[in-house]
Amino acid sequence: MSDSSTTETAEDEQPTTTTTTAGETVEEVQDEWIEYDFDGPAKFSATDLNVWYGDDHALHDITIDIPENSVTALIGPSGCGKSTFLRCLNRMNDRIKAARVEGSVELDGEEIYQEGVDLVELRKRVGQVFQSPNPFPKSIRDNIAYGPRKHGDINTGLLARLLGGDDREREEELVERCLRGAALWEEVSDRLDDNALGLSGGQQQRLCIARALAVDPEVILMDEPASALDPIATSKIEDLVEDLAEEYTVVIVTHNMQQAARISDQTAVFLTGGHLVEYGDTDQIFENPQSQRVEDYITGKFG
Ligand SMILES: Nc1ncnc2c1ncn2[C@@H]1O[C@H](COP(=O)(O)OP(=O)(O)OP(=O)(O)O)[C@@H](O)[C@H]1O
Ligand SMILES: [Mg+2]
Repeated sequence: MSDSSTTETAEDEQPTTTTTTAGETVEEVQDEWIEYDFDGPAKFSATDLNVWYGDDHALHDITIDIPENSVTALIGPSGCGKSTFLRCLNRMNDRIKAARVEGSVELDGEEIYQEGVDLVELRKRVGQVFQSPNPFPKSIRDNIAYGPRKHGDINTGLLARLLGGDDREREEELVERCLRGAALWEEVSDRLDDNALGLSGGQQQRLCIARALAVDPEVILMDEPASALDPIATSKIEDLVEDLAEEYTVVIVTHNMQQAARISDQTAVFLTGGHLVEYGDTDQIFENPQSQRVEDYITGKFG
Protein backbone atom coordinates (compact mmCIF):
# COMPACT_ATOMS: atom_id res chain seq x y z
CA MET A 1 0.00 0.00 0.00
CA SER A 2 2.58 2.54 1.00
CA ASP A 3 5.15 1.81 -1.74
CA SER A 4 3.28 2.73 -5.00
CA SER A 5 2.64 6.48 -4.51
CA THR A 6 6.28 7.56 -4.38
CA THR A 7 7.20 6.26 -7.85
CA GLU A 8 4.21 8.03 -9.47
CA THR A 9 4.95 11.47 -8.09
CA ALA A 10 8.56 11.21 -9.27
CA GLU A 11 7.33 11.05 -12.88
CA ASP A 12 5.13 14.13 -12.49
CA GLU A 13 8.00 16.34 -11.42
CA GLN A 14 8.61 19.39 -13.59
CA PRO A 15 11.80 19.15 -15.67
CA THR A 16 14.42 21.61 -14.54
CA THR A 17 14.88 24.38 -17.11
CA THR A 18 18.24 25.72 -18.18
CA THR A 19 19.06 28.41 -20.69
CA THR A 20 21.30 28.60 -23.75
CA THR A 21 23.96 31.25 -24.22
CA ALA A 22 21.35 33.26 -26.17
CA GLY A 23 19.20 33.29 -23.04
CA GLU A 24 16.69 30.86 -24.50
CA THR A 25 15.12 28.24 -22.26
CA VAL A 26 15.89 24.64 -23.22
CA GLU A 27 12.77 22.51 -23.42
CA GLU A 28 11.29 19.53 -25.25
CA VAL A 29 8.61 20.54 -27.75
CA GLN A 30 5.32 18.79 -26.92
CA ASP A 31 3.07 17.52 -29.71
CA GLU A 32 -0.04 18.94 -28.03
CA TRP A 33 1.38 22.48 -28.25
CA ILE A 34 0.87 22.43 -32.00
CA GLU A 35 -2.52 20.72 -32.02
CA TYR A 36 -5.11 23.26 -32.97
CA ASP A 37 -8.75 22.38 -33.55
CA PHE A 38 -10.78 24.76 -35.63
CA ASP A 39 -14.17 24.75 -37.30
CA GLY A 40 -14.41 24.51 -41.06
CA PRO A 41 -12.05 23.09 -43.65
CA ALA A 42 -8.27 23.46 -43.79
CA LYS A 43 -7.04 25.48 -46.76
CA PHE A 44 -3.51 24.15 -46.34
CA SER A 45 -2.33 20.98 -44.64
CA ALA A 46 1.44 20.68 -44.33
CA THR A 47 2.78 17.36 -43.08
CA ASP A 48 6.38 16.60 -42.07
CA LEU A 49 7.63 19.45 -44.18
CA ASN A 50 11.42 19.83 -44.24
CA VAL A 51 13.51 22.35 -46.13
CA TRP A 52 17.26 22.43 -46.63
CA TYR A 53 19.45 25.08 -48.23
CA GLY A 54 22.44 22.97 -49.20
CA ASP A 55 23.37 21.31 -45.89
CA ASP A 56 21.55 23.88 -43.79
CA HIS A 57 18.36 22.32 -42.41
CA ALA A 58 16.07 25.37 -42.31
CA LEU A 59 12.67 23.80 -41.50
CA HIS A 60 12.16 20.65 -39.38
CA ASP A 61 9.12 18.40 -39.67
CA ILE A 62 6.51 21.12 -39.85
CA THR A 63 2.99 19.76 -39.53
CA ILE A 64 0.24 22.34 -39.52
CA ASP A 65 -3.30 22.89 -40.81
CA ILE A 66 -4.27 26.40 -41.86
CA PRO A 67 -7.99 27.22 -41.83
CA GLU A 68 -9.61 28.96 -44.76
CA ASN A 69 -11.01 32.49 -44.76
CA SER A 70 -9.06 33.62 -41.74
CA VAL A 71 -5.76 35.27 -40.85
CA THR A 72 -2.88 33.07 -39.72
CA ALA A 73 0.15 34.89 -38.30
CA LEU A 74 3.63 33.36 -38.41
CA ILE A 75 5.95 34.80 -35.79
CA GLY A 76 9.41 34.01 -34.45
CA PRO A 77 12.96 35.37 -34.30
CA SER A 78 14.99 36.20 -37.38
CA GLY A 79 16.24 33.17 -39.28
CA CYS A 80 13.73 30.69 -37.79
CA GLY A 81 12.24 29.87 -41.19
CA LYS A 82 9.07 31.95 -41.46
CA SER A 83 9.74 33.16 -45.01
CA THR A 84 10.92 29.70 -45.98
CA PHE A 85 7.65 28.19 -44.76
CA LEU A 86 5.57 30.86 -46.49
CA ARG A 87 7.38 30.18 -49.77
CA CYS A 88 6.54 26.47 -49.46
CA LEU A 89 2.84 27.33 -49.73
CA ASN A 90 3.08 28.36 -53.38
CA ARG A 91 6.33 26.61 -54.22
CA MET A 92 8.35 29.78 -54.52
CA ASN A 93 11.28 27.85 -53.00
CA ASP A 94 11.45 26.02 -56.36
CA ARG A 95 13.08 29.18 -57.68
CA ILE A 96 15.91 29.00 -55.14
CA LYS A 97 18.57 26.69 -56.49
CA ALA A 98 19.99 25.60 -53.15
CA ALA A 99 16.57 24.83 -51.65
CA ARG A 100 15.33 21.25 -51.26
CA VAL A 101 11.83 20.55 -49.96
CA GLU A 102 10.57 17.23 -48.57
CA GLY A 103 7.19 16.41 -47.13
CA SER A 104 3.70 17.30 -48.10
CA VAL A 105 1.62 20.43 -48.57
CA GLU A 106 -2.00 20.05 -49.59
CA LEU A 107 -4.12 22.90 -50.88
CA ASP A 108 -7.82 22.04 -50.56
CA GLY A 109 -6.73 18.43 -50.06
CA GLU A 110 -4.60 18.29 -53.26
CA GLU A 111 -0.86 17.75 -53.01
CA ILE A 112 0.99 20.75 -54.44
CA TYR A 113 4.35 18.94 -54.44
CA GLN A 114 3.29 16.20 -56.83
CA GLU A 115 4.46 16.01 -60.41
CA GLY A 116 2.42 17.79 -63.01
CA VAL A 117 1.23 20.65 -60.80
CA ASP A 118 0.87 23.78 -62.92
CA LEU A 119 2.95 26.35 -61.04
CA VAL A 120 1.46 29.31 -62.90
CA GLU A 121 -2.01 28.17 -61.86
CA LEU A 122 -0.84 27.45 -58.28
CA ARG A 123 0.61 30.95 -57.92
CA LYS A 124 -2.55 32.42 -59.37
CA ARG A 125 -4.53 30.70 -56.61
CA VAL A 126 -1.93 31.51 -53.97
CA GLY A 127 -0.80 35.09 -54.46
CA GLN A 128 1.76 37.00 -52.46
CA VAL A 129 2.84 40.38 -51.25
CA PHE A 130 6.43 41.08 -50.29
CA GLN A 131 8.10 43.10 -47.56
CA SER A 132 9.04 46.07 -49.73
CA PRO A 133 6.41 47.36 -52.10
CA ASN A 134 7.46 46.39 -55.63
CA PRO A 135 5.03 47.88 -58.15
CA PHE A 136 5.99 47.64 -61.81
CA PRO A 137 7.30 50.92 -63.28
CA LYS A 138 4.01 51.29 -65.16
CA SER A 139 0.75 53.12 -64.62
CA ILE A 140 -1.48 52.28 -61.68
CA ARG A 141 -4.00 50.81 -64.13
CA ASP A 142 -1.40 48.69 -65.89
CA ASN A 143 -0.14 47.31 -62.57
CA ILE A 144 -3.61 45.92 -61.84
CA ALA A 145 -4.38 44.77 -65.37
CA TYR A 146 -0.98 43.13 -65.90
CA GLY A 147 -1.84 39.71 -64.40
CA PRO A 148 -5.30 39.32 -65.98
CA ARG A 149 -3.87 40.40 -69.36
CA LYS A 150 -1.02 37.92 -69.05
CA HIS A 151 -3.40 35.11 -68.18
CA GLY A 152 -5.56 36.10 -71.16
CA ASP A 153 -8.54 36.97 -68.95
CA ILE A 154 -8.86 40.44 -70.47
CA ASN A 155 -7.88 41.60 -73.92
CA THR A 156 -7.37 45.25 -74.71
CA GLY A 157 -5.36 47.17 -77.28
CA LEU A 158 -5.50 47.67 -81.02
CA LEU A 159 -5.61 44.03 -82.07
CA ALA A 160 -8.40 43.21 -79.62
CA ARG A 161 -10.33 46.26 -80.87
CA LEU A 162 -9.88 45.25 -84.52
CA LEU A 163 -11.14 41.78 -83.68
CA GLY A 164 -14.10 43.30 -81.87
CA GLY A 165 -13.16 41.75 -78.55
CA ASP A 166 -12.00 44.79 -76.63
CA ASP A 167 -12.45 44.27 -72.89
CA ARG A 168 -11.84 47.89 -71.93
CA GLU A 169 -15.01 48.13 -69.87
CA ARG A 170 -14.27 44.95 -68.01
CA GLU A 171 -10.80 46.23 -67.35
CA GLU A 172 -12.15 49.49 -65.92
CA GLU A 173 -14.44 47.51 -63.67
CA LEU A 174 -11.62 45.21 -62.56
CA VAL A 175 -9.24 48.07 -61.80
CA GLU A 176 -11.84 49.83 -59.68
CA ARG A 177 -12.90 46.66 -57.85
CA CYS A 178 -9.31 45.70 -56.96
CA LEU A 179 -8.35 49.20 -55.88
CA ARG A 180 -11.46 49.36 -53.71
CA GLY A 181 -10.63 45.91 -52.33
CA ALA A 182 -7.21 47.21 -51.34
CA ALA A 183 -8.66 50.42 -49.83
CA LEU A 184 -6.81 52.58 -52.35
CA TRP A 185 -9.50 53.67 -54.83
CA GLU A 186 -10.43 56.95 -53.11
CA GLU A 187 -6.80 58.06 -53.17
CA VAL A 188 -5.96 57.26 -56.80
CA SER A 189 -9.18 57.19 -58.84
CA ASP A 190 -8.29 60.47 -60.58
CA ARG A 191 -4.78 59.40 -61.59
CA LEU A 192 -4.99 55.84 -62.81
CA ASP A 193 -2.63 56.59 -65.70
CA ASP A 194 0.11 58.03 -63.50
CA ASN A 195 3.20 55.98 -62.84
CA ALA A 196 2.80 53.77 -59.77
CA LEU A 197 6.28 54.69 -58.58
CA GLY A 198 4.94 58.16 -57.80
CA LEU A 199 2.76 56.75 -54.99
CA SER A 200 3.82 56.81 -51.33
CA GLY A 201 5.25 53.61 -49.82
CA GLY A 202 1.98 52.75 -48.08
CA GLN A 203 0.01 53.40 -51.26
CA GLN A 204 2.45 51.29 -53.26
CA GLN A 205 1.98 48.41 -50.83
CA ARG A 206 -1.80 48.63 -51.14
CA LEU A 207 -1.37 48.73 -54.93
CA CYS A 208 0.63 45.50 -54.67
CA ILE A 209 -2.24 44.00 -52.68
CA ALA A 210 -4.68 45.23 -55.36
CA ARG A 211 -2.44 43.65 -58.01
CA ALA A 212 -2.49 40.37 -56.08
CA LEU A 213 -6.31 40.51 -55.93
CA ALA A 214 -6.60 41.11 -59.68
CA VAL A 215 -5.97 37.48 -60.65
CA ASP A 216 -8.73 36.35 -58.30
CA PRO A 217 -6.63 34.37 -55.80
CA GLU A 218 -7.90 32.19 -52.97
CA VAL A 219 -4.95 32.78 -50.67
CA ILE A 220 -2.75 35.81 -50.07
CA LEU A 221 0.67 35.26 -48.52
CA MET A 222 2.22 38.33 -46.94
CA ASP A 223 5.81 38.52 -45.74
CA GLU A 224 6.11 41.44 -43.33
CA PRO A 225 3.97 43.64 -45.59
CA ALA A 226 4.01 46.64 -43.25
CA SER A 227 7.54 46.58 -41.91
CA ALA A 228 8.72 49.37 -44.21
CA LEU A 229 5.70 51.60 -43.53
CA ASP A 230 4.86 54.39 -41.08
CA PRO A 231 2.24 53.81 -38.35
CA ILE A 232 -0.66 55.29 -40.34
CA ALA A 233 0.08 53.27 -43.47
CA THR A 234 0.62 50.23 -41.24
CA SER A 235 -2.78 50.58 -39.64
CA LYS A 236 -4.39 50.84 -43.08
CA ILE A 237 -2.73 47.58 -44.11
CA GLU A 238 -3.84 45.96 -40.85
CA ASP A 239 -7.47 47.00 -41.37
CA LEU A 240 -7.26 45.75 -44.91
CA VAL A 241 -5.88 42.35 -43.88
CA GLU A 242 -8.80 41.85 -41.50
CA ASP A 243 -11.27 42.74 -44.27
CA LEU A 244 -9.56 40.45 -46.78
CA ALA A 245 -10.02 37.46 -44.48
CA GLU A 246 -13.76 37.54 -45.15
CA GLU A 247 -13.09 36.35 -48.69
CA TYR A 248 -9.53 35.07 -48.73
CA THR A 249 -7.20 32.95 -46.66
CA VAL A 250 -4.41 35.20 -45.42
CA VAL A 251 -1.09 33.94 -44.08
CA ILE A 252 1.08 36.75 -42.77
CA VAL A 253 4.61 36.88 -41.39
CA THR A 254 5.19 39.69 -38.94
CA HIS A 255 7.85 40.70 -36.42
CA ASN A 256 5.37 42.96 -34.73
CA MET A 257 3.71 41.08 -31.85
CA GLN A 258 1.00 43.68 -31.36
CA GLN A 259 0.19 43.43 -35.03
CA ALA A 260 -0.07 39.64 -34.87
CA ALA A 261 -2.25 39.90 -31.77
CA ARG A 262 -4.48 42.54 -33.38
CA ILE A 263 -5.14 41.07 -36.78
CA SER A 264 -4.77 37.30 -36.68
CA ASP A 265 -7.18 34.54 -35.73
CA GLN A 266 -4.48 31.96 -35.09
CA THR A 267 -0.75 32.24 -34.55
CA ALA A 268 2.08 29.82 -35.30
CA VAL A 269 5.33 30.41 -33.41
CA PHE A 270 8.53 29.24 -35.06
CA LEU A 271 11.71 29.23 -33.00
CA THR A 272 15.41 28.92 -33.63
CA GLY A 273 16.46 26.08 -35.87
CA GLY A 274 13.28 26.01 -37.94
CA HIS A 275 10.89 24.31 -35.50
CA LEU A 276 7.20 25.01 -35.11
CA VAL A 277 6.91 25.18 -31.35
CA GLU A 278 3.37 26.33 -30.68
CA TYR A 279 0.26 26.91 -32.76
CA GLY A 280 -3.16 27.93 -31.60
CA ASP A 281 -5.77 30.56 -31.17
CA THR A 282 -4.05 33.95 -31.17
CA ASP A 283 -5.52 34.95 -27.79
CA GLN A 284 -4.29 31.73 -26.21
CA ILE A 285 -0.80 32.09 -27.68
CA PHE A 286 -0.41 35.63 -26.41
CA GLU A 287 -2.21 35.30 -23.09
CA ASN A 288 -1.40 31.78 -22.05
CA PRO A 289 1.35 30.13 -24.10
CA GLN A 290 2.14 26.56 -23.18
CA SER A 291 5.81 26.69 -24.10
CA GLN A 292 8.13 28.58 -21.77
CA ARG A 293 10.28 29.54 -24.76
CA VAL A 294 7.26 31.00 -26.55
CA GLU A 295 6.39 32.99 -23.45
CA ASP A 296 9.98 34.22 -23.22
CA TYR A 297 9.95 35.19 -26.88
CA ILE A 298 6.62 36.99 -26.67
CA THR A 299 7.65 38.90 -23.57
CA GLY A 300 10.90 39.94 -25.24
CA LYS A 301 13.32 37.86 -23.16
CA PHE A 302 15.14 36.65 -26.27
CA GLY A 303 15.04 36.92 -30.06
N1 LIG B 1 18.04 31.63 -50.39
C1 LIG B 1 18.65 31.08 -49.34
N2 LIG B 1 19.81 30.43 -49.48
C2 LIG B 1 20.43 29.87 -48.41
N3 LIG B 1 19.95 29.90 -47.16
C3 LIG B 1 18.79 30.55 -46.95
C4 LIG B 1 18.08 31.16 -48.02
N4 LIG B 1 16.97 31.71 -47.53
C5 LIG B 1 16.98 31.46 -46.21
N5 LIG B 1 18.08 30.76 -45.85
C6 LIG B 1 18.42 30.30 -44.49
O1 LIG B 1 17.34 29.56 -43.95
C7 LIG B 1 17.07 29.94 -42.61
C8 LIG B 1 15.66 30.48 -42.49
O2 LIG B 1 15.57 31.69 -43.23
P1 LIG B 1 14.23 32.50 -43.43
O3 LIG B 1 14.52 33.60 -44.37
O4 LIG B 1 13.14 31.56 -43.76
O5 LIG B 1 13.99 33.05 -41.94
P2 LIG B 1 12.93 34.13 -41.43
O6 LIG B 1 12.30 33.53 -40.22
O7 LIG B 1 12.05 34.57 -42.51
O8 LIG B 1 13.88 35.32 -40.95
P3 LIG B 1 13.62 36.91 -40.97
O9 LIG B 1 12.69 37.16 -39.81
O10 LIG B 1 14.97 37.49 -40.72
O11 LIG B 1 13.04 37.28 -42.29
C9 LIG B 1 18.17 30.93 -42.23
O12 LIG B 1 19.20 30.23 -41.61
C10 LIG B 1 18.62 31.48 -43.56
O13 LIG B 1 19.96 31.86 -43.51
MG1 LIG C 1 11.73 36.39 -43.47
